[in-house]
Amino acid sequence: MKRIGVLFGVENTFPGALVEKINSMAVPGISAEFVRVGGVEMASPSGYEVIVDRISHDLPFYRSFLKNAVLGGAQVINNPFWWSADDKFFNYALASKLGVAVPRTVLLPHKFFPAQINSQSLRNLEFPLDWRRIFEYVGFPAFLKPHDGGGWRDVYHVHNPGEFFGAYEQTRDLCMTLQAAVNFKEYFRCYVVGQTEVRIMPYDPRRPHEQRYVQDPPVYDEKLLARVEQDALTLCRALGYDLNTVEFAVEDGIPYAIDFMNPAPDADLNSVGQQNFEWIVDSVARLAIGKAHASESASPPQMNWSALLQGTNSAANAPTPSNPAVPAKHKTPSKKTAKTPK
Ligand SMILES: Nc1ncnc2c1ncn2[C@@H]1O[C@H](COP(=O)(O)OP(=O)(O)O)[C@@H](O)[C@H]1O
Ligand SMILES: [Mg+2]
Repeated sequence: MKRIGVLFGVENTFPGALVEKINSMAVPGISAEFVRVGGVEMASPSGYEVIVDRISHDLPFYRSFLKNAVLGGAQVINNPFWWSADDKFFNYALASKLGVAVPRTVLLPHKFFPAQINSQSLRNLEFPLDWRRIFEYVGFPAFLKPHDGGGWRDVYHVHNPGEFFGAYEQTRDLCMTLQAAVNFKEYFRCYVVGQTEVRIMPYDPRRPHEQRYVQDPPVYDEKLLARVEQDALTLCRALGYDLNTVEFAVEDGIPYAIDFMNPAPDADLNSVGQQNFEWIVDSVARLAIGKAHASESASPPQMNWSALLQGTNSAANAPTPSNPAVPAKHKTPSKKTAKTPK
């Protein structure tokens, strides 16, 4: 029996629904359950063919366990090696190279440094910084936000240098970016699963948290939706994420990618709503099953860093939700989804 394990933290709705969904599909030889893990022996198999990781960004023990699990032949959604290496500033730079619209963004030295860092350690740093040049490049209004963050933590909307310096002062030893604000009309959050399936979800970040996934959106321009879908795929394929959300803020018809490092995206029924929830549960179930099937044909793991980083050490890059063994039941083109939600 091939086991699919779900590793999770505080979330309540998605992990259980995913396990139930996979088991209800009754695919011969495959079952799903919550991961159980204690002390981890080095290089030992985890006991799982596939692990869906929802929490290792918060617990270094889990991240390390998952890397070890990969050595033991497991495929992890998402690749823990790349997730550990990734950061949002790199992603903005990559997006700009890929031709995806992204707001002008500057990486800033930390305002305060960890205790063990002293002025000797910082001799390569320009001081004072050329703030004029930085502000001219980015422009105001802007967002000051961590180069690796999430959940809207430490995100500041600043309108002038005074507000910027006030906010920068509060950023502790975080590494921050300053990014031009998009004066958006439309805003989309897109689930991207298996680097092939996209669900464009109209989202309004200006509303209270529980009402942000817009359930009664207007009709959008087809061309805009097509570009959003294509850009979301381009980003996830370049980054190698099998499960991600990509956020676009749209100004004058141009979708700017502003947040696309969400390898454990919000999938809570109470925030995303019933239809989006069913879609993500179904898509991730098929993705995980597809990967579990593919592990049969996996070649022996390659023990080198580039293979681990790319996920090519196992069958991690094998075909995913579109695996013909598990047909899509509710596969709705995302364009229509965005136009006609209930
Ligand atoms: N460049 C930007 N232009 C407009 N709004 C932004 C921009 N950057 C961030 N925001 C707003 O701040 C919110 C949180 O920022 P985001 O980059 O998504 O970080 P997080 O990973 O914490 O969600 C976004 O949902 C959006 O409402
Ligand atoms: Mg975000």
